[in-house]
Amino acid sequence: MEKLGKLYEGKAKKLYATNDPDVLWVEYMNQATAGNGAKKAQIQGKGELNNRITTLIFKLLAKRGIPSHFIKQISDNEQLVRKMTMFPLEIIMRNVAAGSFSKRYGVKEGSALKQPILEFCYKSDELGDPFINDDDLLALGLATREQLEVISAKTREINRALIDIFKSIDVNLIDFKIEMGVTSDGTILLADEITPDTCRLWNATADGSIEHLDKDLFRRDLGNIIPAYEDICSRLEDLAKSK
Ligand code: C5P
Repeated sequence: MEKLGKLYEGKAKKLYATNDPDVLWVEYMNQATAGNGAKKAQIQGKGELNNRITTLIFKLLAKRGIPSHFIKQISDNEQLVRKMTMFPLEIIMRNVAAGSFSKRYGVKEGSALKQPILEFCYKSDELGDPFINDDDLLALGLATREQLEVISAKTREINRALIDIFKSIDVNLIDFKIEMGVTSDGTILLADEITPDTCRLWNATADGSIEHLDKDLFRRDLGNIIPAYEDICSRLEDLAKSK
């Protein structure tokens, strides 16, 4: 496989074309950002850890019958993925109140929810990824009604699988963000990444106290993310070996 020109540079990854029109080359960077890029840092080792973690999770999901764009890991910080037309949506699933949900509704972080919540944000750096409801996104033509139904059902299925995967490594999945796209044959697939950058992962502590093993450590200046990401990575590696 040959790496060709850069197609896109995001906040944490770079995407390159390859000599296969259906395959993209992804490079995970060490850059960490928060607040839509307002806070920025280079954190040695983050790119490699996220590449390893997302590879492990995509493989664990595939074993449970949930496919994704992932093809294979090709180096410490690179992987090959299927090229897709992405929905300009951040698909957010919440199991426990935290983050912007807690702020919006004045609910204490860690509060139980009566049911999981599926939310969408419109992916737009200029607009700051605003919250968008189903009617808004249908009216704007960001997805069709049929596609929205598939996206919602798949996201709930991914949530159930991820809750189970993280539970088996003593981690509570509080919430997460994923992205989806459509392949050239019209199949809707999970894409982007699933890492501690995109999930809230709380260690299952004996006393129920909150111990962040995710990017909130960086967002909120609570400490170094690397030991937390290494912890998640090694627990997932042990789980993958045991399966
Ligand atoms: O900030 P908020 O509470 O809305 O975040 C919900 C979830 O989505 C968190 O797990 C967060 O890591 C993730 N997220 C993300 N990228 C964004 C916004 C949120 O990965 N741009």
